[in-house]
Amino acid sequence: MALISDETIKKVRESNDIVDVIGSYLPLIQKGKNHFAVCPFHDDHSPSMSISRQKQIYRCFVCGATGNVITFVMNYEKISFSEAIEELGKNAGIKLDITKNKNQNSPYKEYYDIYNIATSFYKNNLNTKRGEKARAYLSNRHLTKEIIDYFDIGLSLNDGLSASLAKKHDVEKLIDIGLARIGPKDIFINRIMFTIKDNHGNPVGFSGRIYEESNNPKYINSKETVIFKKGTILYNFWRAKETIRKKKEIIISEGFMEVIRLHTIGYDNVVALMGTGFTKEHLEILKNLKVNVVLNLDQDDAGVIATITIGRMLNSIGINPTVIIFKNHKDADELIEKEGKDTFDNAYKNRVSFIDFELNYLRKNKDLTNAEELSDYLKEAINLINDIEDEILREVKIKWLSKEYDISEELIRSRIIPKIQNKEETNHDSKPLKPKKYDKYDISEIRLLYLMLNNKELINYYENHLGYMNDDKRRVLASSIISYKEKNKTFDYADYICYTIGNPELNNTLNEVTSFKQIDEYTMEEVENYITNIKKRRVEKQINSLKEKQKNTIDIEEKKRLASRIANMKKEVLKW
Ligand code: UTP
Ligand code: MN
Repeated sequence: MALISDETIKKVRESNDIVDVIGSYLPLIQKGKNHFAVCPFHDDHSPSMSISRQKQIYRCFVCGATGNVITFVMNYEKISFSEAIEELGKNAGIKLDITKNKNQNSPYKEYYDIYNIATSFYKNNLNTKRGEKARAYLSNRHLTKEIIDYFDIGLSLNDGLSASLAKKHDVEKLIDIGLARIGPKDIFINRIMFTIKDNHGNPVGFSGRIYEESNNPKYINSKETVIFKKGTILYNFWRAKETIRKKKEIIISEGFMEVIRLHTIGYDNVVALMGTGFTKEHLEILKNLKVNVVLNLDQDDAGVIATITIGRMLNSIGINPTVIIFKNHKDADELIEKEGKDTFDNAYKNRVSFIDFELNYLRKNKDLTNAEELSDYLKEAINLINDIEDEILREVKIKWLSKEYDISEELIRSRIIPKIQNKEETNHDSKPLKPKKYDKYDISEIRLLYLMLNNKELINYYENHLGYMNDDKRRVLASSIISYKEKNKTFDYADYICYTIGNPELNNTLNEVTSFKQIDEYTMEEVENYITNIKKRRVEKQINSLKEKQKNTIDIEEKKRLASRIANMKKEVLKW
């Protein structure tokens, strides 16, 4: 973080309009001069996040999330501050001199470096004389030089990589990260090498494919390591995420050949599982993306079962995916190779809802002219329909089933268990603030802080007329605002947010302030009112502590003195 200057941060922030940037992630609704979105930082369905173009700030009324364009990208993409700066810098065409510092702070920098060297090593092999057969194989699969380069595809030969890496790096380390075995000997020998990058684009593993007749497994993959977490990685996600956001859609495939093939026909929102199946971590990524999900797994039995499993997992978090289906070919790569782009485009266009896919699956291998099998199917179908969360879709499906198989709607409905309507607001996110009772003193402090953040002249006013808050955390926030203003000779709320980043305490207090429904207009009378309230609260606290002292002292004179002090203070307060 220290590597990026304040000026650069400011420049990046100012060149990325917050409304445009958030609008590229989320649908926006305009009301007056503000824009609103469904807050992505807690479970919500109504637009509780407001975004101000004028102030370059967003804030959520419900969970209190607040920040500027940089923190939005950070929190939304779950990336670091410098990664967000880098991404936004790229957006705005600002050249940043931080690429070479990328991952400087990562404990795994050396591993990424090693993987980068290994990638170049394999890529180079492919271009040598000994790479001829592999090149022929790739060309046979219609993978051009550009594609090979774009996806960092290379070739492993006989031992060579680990020996070369061992000149500069500990063999132990090479073994740990899955690039060598004792010797050192190479893990991958004579395979076409697909570089696997993590969700941030760091190279972390390889998948090697045979390219000649062989009894060995078709693919072997790097082992799971500290940097290669198969269950969290989606192949190509690091590069596809921008397109996924723009298209508001992600296509999930089973193998990376689909990703590569689909890229050649213009689909750049495709990712692949790493042969490990679909995990909770993947689910979490999709949940945060808030985009449409299209399942494009293999068409064989294993692929169908995987589709059902993934579809149900997605349903459980409220995502209704669609499914691409086609006949006669195992996967999209084969379909496109054999029949061309148009056939895939059609399959994509005619993709079915997940519920239809499931109903279809239930019918498979059943003879519906047989009364018993038909009745089994209907029972299973009703169970499925019963599970549909979306009421309208459920209704449509009840009617469809009744018509299609000529059984009465009443019978179907008699087996549908009504959904419990008054579900407790399930909020699994830790973010939303727990309800806390605020009295008028709290509200005075919160409102005053809000006005200070948005009107720099009130910062001076606060300093000269009050200078403290009763609540410790709010007092710290107020002092931090003052010192930021002194240091920078001015105060810009959107810039100040960057300054609070490494400080969770300040950030929480900021969230507390912004989670209140606030209006921007104010009068000085209102401000005076808050100041008086806060002062009163302080005096009340003082009076209470004096009373406590009075109670505890045995010295009669002291008791009298305290009594008169308390009386004076009370009189003083009455004048306000
Ligand atoms: P597939 O067998 O469907 O491979 O395995 P594919 O994607 O069609 O590849 P090509 O077209 O034959 O080259 C799908 C995924 O399963 C994993 C790999 O991650 C692959 O991308 N897999 C498959 C393995 O890990 N090992 C294997 O032996 C086979
Ligand atoms: Mn294939």
